[in-house]
Amino acid sequence: MKTYTLTLDDLGNIETQNVETIFAQANGFMGVRASLPIQANDSLPGTFINGFYETHPIIYGENAYGYAKNHETMVKCFDLRTLELSVNGEVLSVLTERNLKLNLMTGILSETYLYETNLGQQIKLELESFTSHFNRTTYAQKIKITALNFSGEVHVKKEAKLLLPNSSKDFDPRVREASVNLQKQGNQYTTANSKLSLYTKFDEIDETFQLNPTQSFEFEQLNQISKENQFEIVSYERLKVEQVKIFDTFWSVSDIEIDGDETLQKGVRVNLYHLFNSAGRDGKTNFGAKGLTGEGYEGHYFWDTEMYLLPFFTHTQPEIAKSLLTYRLNILPQAKQRAKELGFAGALYAWRTQSGHETSAYYPAGTAQVHINADIAYALELYEKVTGDSAFIQSAKEIIYETARFWLSYGFMSQRGFEIHEVTGPDEYTALVNNNYYTNKMAQNNLRYAVRLAHTFKENQEEATFWQTAADKMYFGYDETSKITKQDDSFLDKQVWDFAHTPKENYPLLLHYHPMKIYKHQVLKQADTILAHMLFAEEKAQVARDFDFYEPLTTHDSSLSRAIHGVVASRLGRTQQAYDFFADSATMDLSDMQGNASHGIHAANMGGTWLGLIYGFAGLHIDNGELKIENHLPKQIKALRFNILYQGKLQSFELKNEKN
Ligand code: BGC
Repeated sequence: MKTYTLTLDDLGNIETQNVETIFAQANGFMGVRASLPIQANDSLPGTFINGFYETHPIIYGENAYGYAKNHETMVKCFDLRTLELSVNGEVLSVLTERNLKLNLMTGILSETYLYETNLGQQIKLELESFTSHFNRTTYAQKIKITALNFSGEVHVKKEAKLLLPNSSKDFDPRVREASVNLQKQGNQYTTANSKLSLYTKFDEIDETFQLNPTQSFEFEQLNQISKENQFEIVSYERLKVEQVKIFDTFWSVSDIEIDGDETLQKGVRVNLYHLFNSAGRDGKTNFGAKGLTGEGYEGHYFWDTEMYLLPFFTHTQPEIAKSLLTYRLNILPQAKQRAKELGFAGALYAWRTQSGHETSAYYPAGTAQVHINADIAYALELYEKVTGDSAFIQSAKEIIYETARFWLSYGFMSQRGFEIHEVTGPDEYTALVNNNYYTNKMAQNNLRYAVRLAHTFKENQEEATFWQTAADKMYFGYDETSKITKQDDSFLDKQVWDFAHTPKENYPLLLHYHPMKIYKHQVLKQADTILAHMLFAEEKAQVARDFDFYEPLTTHDSSLSRAIHGVVASRLGRTQQAYDFFADSATMDLSDMQGNASHGIHAANMGGTWLGLIYGFAGLHIDNGELKIENHLPKQIKALRFNILYQGKLQSFELKNEKN
């Protein structure tokens, strides 16, 4: 068994809740935070089930037509980890030592804790656990309790507990908890509003036994949760053997080796580990912005999946890519309904959702990000190009047609060309603008893809001529004087944000300034035009000018920003800058750079790390149907090895740094 271990020494912030996120385990269906085994105030236990959410009506001070109606909040349902332990009636209350070792190559977590009672009786707790990828309903644990310095009666009680939402939270719009009232009937738990059910098969222990110094008591627990009330009994040892095999298969394709930088190597593997863990596998669920590791963003699925995660999955785990895209096909009816409700043709995908319905209560940075439609189309096209799986595209082509129909009805033809007004691009510090460059570029791509499919499948031919015209005449703003691509029609006319007088502690700006103040300035939260340049070939000198203009205006307050800048910097030959962005991306959650790893992993950034390495340093691209690479390795990295599954065939690449 290969080992590659993550320990507390690898973390920049070892506050309990951060640790619980980074060491969390998941299998696409269920995620379990690595919470402390003995209840503590600073611990935040949580088990999340992908797509299991409660709905609550959104209460607007001032409502308007078509606003999203319901919140959908992922339920932090059970605590599967906490033990109650006492020695001769004295509870264990003082934690004196903790060690966590996560074997990234197997997904198996080993933990050791030393606890004491107030009378000084010491107990060592050794835990081994994993969320089974073989039997996704199961969270498996092996627990060993050793008396260190006493003889006495040890009482252990361990049962799954229903979790209640936390009572208070600081102001942070990125986290929200629903008060969830799970109704229990037998082994069935049902949410009051969304009427979703889970079934459980929990293992419980409640025993007292006599221990002398160095003596131990060991037991296994298999806690199971199912949406279908179907449970398969598989032994702990068998699950463990299968877990190792499944991870081995994953790493045999998806691993990336970096020579020359151990910290980054570890960062990359941690990120790939989490990507493998939190991706929905059933076509009905997707990948939350925080995976299944925390309650940030309420478990919602965003464009993060299509633009940041799917390149990795498509190139190395196409089956997972397909199931994530199948989810979009399954929610197409909701997207069509939404477009209709807003008075447009075709389909408009929800900005943030689980059920497929829009749940963004703040439409300027939510629904208005209509680029989500084109992001999904882009991801489908990439999937087709890389896998050659045309059968799947045939089954999913309605997504492309319906999104193309939306563009045609949302945009309009003017003297300048085909314009798309009243949108918000990826940069959420600029809202409700006309002709956002990224959106127009992506919509153009979406329309062209629809035309290609219409020709291939000999259908919608008449509509296709309109799609073609709209794409060909798509309007892009450009400032002839400065020779800068306009992020949107008004961006260049705005006042520049006063960066010099913005104290460090006022970042992220969204927590310290009203949107009106932010929107009226030239200031970016994340890559926007630069992301478009990463995706579509553009003259290098133009990309360089735009990079030099937009990057200094970018706060990178969004974790989705740095990796993209890294890729583009690589392509511009700015290897040191590329390296710096990449290093930030690779270790973002390990160092808690964004200051909120406790809310859950930054999944999109983790996918961004893959982009930084493969699109950036290795310059991977498809040229005339062939995979090509370009060596942009920075001096710190001596060699890079990775695999790509292209058209069903595994290709291995090795790049060496000539300068070393
Ligand atoms: C970013 C969005 C992203 C969301 C979820 C926001 O901070 O601005 O682009 O989709 O986080 O990750």
